[in-house]
Amino acid sequence: MWKESMITKFVRERLSEKRFAHTIGVRNTAVKLAEIYGEDRERAMLAGLIHDCAKNMGDEEILSLVKESGYEPDWIEENSPQLLHGRAAAVIALREMGLEDEAVLNAVIYHTTGRTDMTTLEKIVYVADYIEPSRNFPGVDELRKAAFTNIDGAMLMALENTIRYVLEKHELLHTDTIDARNHMLIVMGGKSSG
Ligand SMILES: [Fe+2]
Ligand SMILES: [Fe+2]
Repeated sequence: MWKESMITKFVRERLSEKRFAHTIGVRNTAVKLAEIYGEDRERAMLAGLIHDCAKNMGDEEILSLVKESGYEPDWIEENSPQLLHGRAAAVIALREMGLEDEAVLNAVIYHTTGRTDMTTLEKIVYVADYIEPSRNFPGVDELRKAAFTNIDGAMLMALENTIRYVLEKHELLHTDTIDARNHMLIVMGGKSSG
């Protein structure tokens, strides 16, 4: 198993300075959230460090990497391969760093779209990606506040924010993100009976 310093070096070599700073922000924020929500610090640290390590890869490269690993992209992912940058990062972590911890790999895979029934670790990484210190968007302060007191509430806000963003940008919205948002709303008991 690789040491943290080796993983940090590996990730730094693959990312721009800005994205590496984001990565360190996500790592630190994920560790803080893990402490608050009783999750494993080491797992949060590893997932935070690795989550974007495929972000500099081109569409074709991402597609062939995940296909080689045995994953069959769905039609949305085929048309928007960057949705797979989390899955590609998990393949790299497994292959090149020997990181086999499924909980960590799933947190890396689902940091992009989210999914139903997310584990606390998955929520922590998803939210940390959103609120790390270099992030700046309307509503980020409210989201930061929620993250440290109510991870489910923060998750719902982040998912709804993502959906709005994707619509505004006129990009493909993955169904996992819609499922994650609907599921979160039901879990939190906020579903309107209409
Ligand atoms: Fe990402
Ligand atoms: Fe990220």
